[in-house]
Amino acid sequence: MFSAAILTVSDKGSQGGREDTAGSVIRELLSGLGVEISRYEIVPDEQGEISGKLKEWADNSNIHLILTSGGTGLSPRDVTPEATLAVVDRLAPGFSEVMRTESLKKTPMGMLSRGVSGVRGGSLIINLPGSAKAVRECLEAIIPALPHAIETLRGEASECASMFDQEEG
Ligand code: MTE
Repeated sequence: MFSAAILTVSDKGSQGGREDTAGSVIRELLSGLGVEISRYEIVPDEQGEISGKLKEWADNSNIHLILTSGGTGLSPRDVTPEATLAVVDRLAPGFSEVMRTESLKKTPMGMLSRGVSGVRGGSLIINLPGSAKAVRECLEAIIPALPHAIETLRGEASECASMFDQEEG
């Protein structure tokens, strides 16, 4: 059981002008893992606000996973990757690589998401694209690795090599 937070990044959503269907999909998919959602907010596409919220959640609470949604594209207002890079200590590029690879199997537009993934302290931060469809496609691709990723980050995993060697053998 681990704790997660959802940060939806959307100018319209933050003004109450759009239903957060992407956030609902994240909730639905994480519920299958028995994850507790301990924080949820919608912020506008402002780099300072996004970074500030990521820092606050990663530093002050026992949140193991922070999923952002939106603001990863190429429009001038899309700054979620920059806001994330400004606060992570270490990159964890595998999650974003897998999401783009899987997305490209569904749509060539998958290459337009610039989302990044990284670690700040004990929190794994992963950028997802903004549409509900894209969130479902991307999150489904990385969910199988999330529990072990969190265990590893918390120092709770037994040694990966011996664990997975035994499974295969
Ligand atoms: N990835 C998947 N799997 N499915 C999608 O439909 N849409 C793309 C891309 N990634 C898409 C996707 C589109 S159209 C854009 S513009 C980028 O994500 C960035 O989206 P964002 O700015 O809402 O984060």
